[in-house]
Amino acid sequence: MVITSSLHSISEEEIDDIAAYYESVNLEKINPVLNRIPEWPGDATRGRELYEGDCKSCHRKNGMGKSRKGIPALALQYPRYLFRQIKMFQWDKRIHDDDPEDETFDELTDRDIEALLAYVSSLAPGNKK
Ligand code: HEC
Repeated sequence: MVITSSLHSISEEEIDDIAAYYESVNLEKINPVLNRIPEWPGDATRGRELYEGDCKSCHRKNGMGKSRKGIPALALQYPRYLFRQIKMFQWDKRIHDDDPEDETFDELTDRDIEALLAYVSSLAPGNKK
């Protein structure tokens, strides 16, 4: 891959263009295999309880988020990536939901996060049983 410019020098408009492009990509059409993400080992039953209690209201029951509101789909992302994002939220290295005071992840142990991801990864369309 040739890197032509750094992320620091792209404009807001270019960021919008890139976002619009990603939004337009139909993964299922390009490659249905991408609808299958690795399932994460963990207690999916506990994960479901946590998810339905604390996450569903925004990321939706099916884990697909609300694109118009800028709420990302969790069900189609690699659990390893999501795990890292949640740790960053916990370590205040990334802000969740534009709210620096957000407490969504404060009480979660690593085992809870694993459980959540076990459930969330089971929601990927290609993983539905
Ligand atoms: C009040 C709404 C709201 C709730 C409740 C909520 N989220 Fe989010 N979440 C957001 C928004 C908005 C974003 C996108 C902005 C950002 O990066 O924080 C987001 C982003 C994320 C991301 C980053 C995804 C990525 O693509 O990098 C993860 C992971 C996540 N949320 C997990 C969770 C989990 C797990 C729960 C429940 C324990 C939860 N969220 C509850 C609104 C919410």
